[in-house]
Amino acid sequence: MTIRVAHPRRPPPRSEPGAPLLRLDDLRVRYGGIEALRGVSLEVRRGEIVALVGANGAGKTTLLRTVLRLPGTQVSGSLSFDGIDLLSMETEDVTALGVALVPEGRGVFPNLSVRENLDLGAWGHRDRRAMEESTSDVVALVPRIGERMKQEAGTLSGGEQQMLAIGRALMARPAMLLLDEPSLGIAPKLVTAIFEAIRAIAASGVTVLVVEQNTKVALSSSGRAYVVRTGEIAQEGRSAELLADPQIQAVYLGALVLFYSAGPGPLIRRPPLVLTEGETAPSPPRGR
Ligand SMILES: Nc1ncnc2c1ncn2[C@@H]1O[C@H](COP(=O)(O)OP(=O)(O)O)[C@@H](O)[C@H]1O
Ligand SMILES: [Mg+2]
Repeated sequence: MTIRVAHPRRPPPRSEPGAPLLRLDDLRVRYGGIEALRGVSLEVRRGEIVALVGANGAGKTTLLRTVLRLPGTQVSGSLSFDGIDLLSMETEDVTALGVALVPEGRGVFPNLSVRENLDLGAWGHRDRRAMEESTSDVVALVPRIGERMKQEAGTLSGGEQQMLAIGRALMARPAMLLLDEPSLGIAPKLVTAIFEAIRAIAASGVTVLVVEQNTKVALSSSGRAYVVRTGEIAQEGRSAELLADPQIQAVYLGALVLFYSAGPGPLIRRPPLVLTEGETAPSPPRGR
């Protein structure tokens, strides 16, 4: 299987494989009075899959939107892609350099077919043949959408819509793909399929930065990772090492064990308590 990664109208990155492609240095981002990123430094090297994990509100989406130069924020520090400064650029110039974002919530057009959604992503393709080549590459990387080309996108499952959103971003033949919470609200079986597709995409030569609250799947599928906490990088390293880190396990991997006392007796160890939305924790037993 030969996948065409170079865009018909854009040269590949100048950075060698393994050299930094995306670089943030002391990046500070504010929404008016709210400082969402407080001096973030990170890099993604060409060919890597890097994960960005952290709790809700940590600043992960803000980081991706800042790379794309989406409006609404005040930014300082430095931000570059392939050695080119992005801070003075508009979103469409960043896209033209080969950076693509799959946004949180997917944003597929429900009333258009799968194929029509894909065609909308064929940014900068001028002829039909290049579009068809891109489509066949996308189908090779994300086979599930190839089986559903004529179907209306709104009738796909959440996981399939996520795959379509990834496929649409790939139609622009990006050098780098940014993904915002691809597993959010998706059945576990499809989460596995989505991350398999992400690994295949990276193997085809696309550099990947993936934001996730699902720390386990993100650390299992990436080479390196950064942990964001309230706008700062709290930890970074090889994903396999972070996965084995007891502190990460306690805070992000649900290994937290709740203890409560049943009156004057010894502490009773309970199995991990997992709450789904809308549930409240049972109150500890009172007296005897
Ligand atoms: N449009 C906005 N206006 C004001 N504050 C925002 C806006 N978007 C996000 N924030 C704030 O910035 C912080 C980081 O948010 P976000 O980047 O969405 O975090 P995450 O993606 O990690 O959940 C939060 O405190 C959030 O409330
Ligand atoms: Mg977010």
